[in-house]
Amino acid sequence: MKILITGANGMLAKSVIKRVQKGNELILTDVADLDITNEEAVMQFVEEKKPEYIINCAAYTAVDKAEEVYELADKINGDGPGNLAKAAKKIGAILIHISTDYVFDGELDVSKFYQENDKVGPVTVYGKTKLHGEEQVQNNTDKYYIFRTAWLYGDGNNFVRTMLKLGKENEPVSVVADQHGSPTYAEDLANIIGEAIEKQIPYGLYHSTNQGFTTWYGFTQKIFALANVNCEIKPVTSEQFVRPAKRPKNSQLNKDKLLAQGITIPTWEDALKRYLEVELHS
Ligand SMILES: NC(=O)c1ccc[n+]([C@@H]2O[C@H](COP(=O)([O-])OP(=O)(O)OC[C@H]3O[C@@H](n4cnc5c(N)ncnc54)[C@H](OP(=O)(O)O)[C@@H]3O)[C@@H](O)[C@H]2O)c1
Repeated sequence: MKILITGANGMLAKSVIKRVQKGNELILTDVADLDITNEEAVMQFVEEKKPEYIINCAAYTAVDKAEEVYELADKINGDGPGNLAKAAKKIGAILIHISTDYVFDGELDVSKFYQENDKVGPVTVYGKTKLHGEEQVQNNTDKYYIFRTAWLYGDGNNFVRTMLKLGKENEPVSVVADQHGSPTYAEDLANIIGEAIEKQIPYGLYHSTNQGFTTWYGFTQKIFALANVNCEIKPVTSEQFVRPAKRPKNSQLNKDKLLAQGITIPTWEDALKRYLEVELHS
């Protein structure tokens, strides 16, 4: 099968490439080869290469910086997926797009979990632009998968790497303890994408994080325990740790829809163990 992967130098893309490379012909592009905001270039490229699948790993992911550059972020996260959807539709390709828990306002009681069809209401520029991207995909093609993920880490700058670095400095680390979600290993999301292709699950929108829930504080406790880091962790509130873009308190996504398709979703603890085996021994 011919698969086009956009944003191919990004963190998730690296895992996706590893997962789908066997037996498939991959066309890898980053912004220099194919800028997804350029509608004409996207159409021309897709019509020429004729991939059967397009996996869009390109995005504007600097959540705080996005608050100051709405237009740029929206071009990449909103218009870009729309361009890919139009091109995919034109040649009959299937579009796989990645979205985020930030499409929700996060105000749902933490005893509850967001379903795919729950009311969206992003409160950040990043979240608004990612919601725009979902709409662009849904309005421009029928043959799509949107995988909403959260708290992603893998081969790139991420929270685990930051904590491991801070943990070495022997100073107490303050970590937010009132935001709830599921850390998600890029390798496991890549596997979800791979299985979705292989099993040809029904098109649509799927919540796609690792299983189980924790807080950033709980996540850090587990990182330090597994990596034998002896460092004090101080739990703080979101109000004590203000960022330019407000983080959702509840990022807990229900995965029943994906599980019903027989897709494998490991727990976040199992995923973290596997990640650290790679990260600490490389
Ligand atoms: N990271 C998370 O915690 C998280 C959480 C939820 C959802 N997601 C979603 O998961 C997906 C993958 O995220 P990631 O962390 O792997 O992102 P990433 O590492 O930031 O990679 C994004 C890639 O897209 C490229 N790109 C930017 N603008 C482009 C354009 N106009 N045309 C083509 N490529 C462009 C970037 O290139 P440059 O680096 O050269 O700009 C980069 O290689 C994204 O859709 C993101 O919104 C991520």
